[in-house]
Amino acid sequence: MEVLEAIKTRRSIRKYKTTAVDNKTIEIVLEAARWAPSWANSQCWRFVVVRDADTKGKLAEAVVAVSDKPNRATEAIRQAPVVIIACAEPGRSGYSVPEPRKPVTDKGEFWYMFDTALAMQNLTLAAHSLGLGTVHVGALDAKKVAEILGVPEGFCVVSMTPLGYPDEEPPLRPRRELSETVFYDKF
Ligand SMILES: Cc1cc2nc3c(=O)[nH]c(=O)nc-3n(C[C@H](O)[C@H](O)[C@H](O)COP(=O)(O)O)c2cc1C
Repeated sequence: MEVLEAIKTRRSIRKYKTTAVDNKTIEIVLEAARWAPSWANSQCWRFVVVRDADTKGKLAEAVVAVSDKPNRATEAIRQAPVVIIACAEPGRSGYSVPEPRKPVTDKGEFWYMFDTALAMQNLTLAAHSLGLGTVHVGALDAKKVAEILGVPEGFCVVSMTPLGYPDEEPPLRPRRELSETVFYDKF
């Protein structure tokens, strides 16, 4: 699948078949994440791959609501054969090199979110190109997820995604027109 086609046809998938995803395929999508660009090539991301049903159940409980309804991705975390959790090591992305490291911009340490998002988007597009579904899940209790997965000190949880074969074909969600979001020469 061509990149532009993958970008335009990817959808957030919240219903999955029980069909297993083989390790080789999981490795291909992780490899796509690995090749994402990052601040000074700092590669602050780490990924945890979960296939264990109990752990997936606990992760589903760590997903939080963004409205008065439960988070729409909760059941997907429980149901999908695989869940990939993106973690990051703050204190690298966004910092000067070499030591002593200092934040370079007014965004402080938060460039780790940017780098990890780039890696996760590579992963979701690669997954889609292989016929797999994903959905970025950001509304989660990061501390709870870190505890469930034994994430060590110095690292934090950014987001997660279920990974599996789609059992739905969600409609396209509209996007703002370029004319509303793009400015030339001046904002
Ligand atoms: C940073 C981020 C966090 C998100 N968190 C959630 C979430 O917690 N639960 C959920 O169901 N979808 C979540 N989504 C998916 C968005 O709702 C979805 O991408 C958007 O509605 C556009 O739909 P599409 O991905 O099918 O194009 C998240 C997406 C992003 C980029």
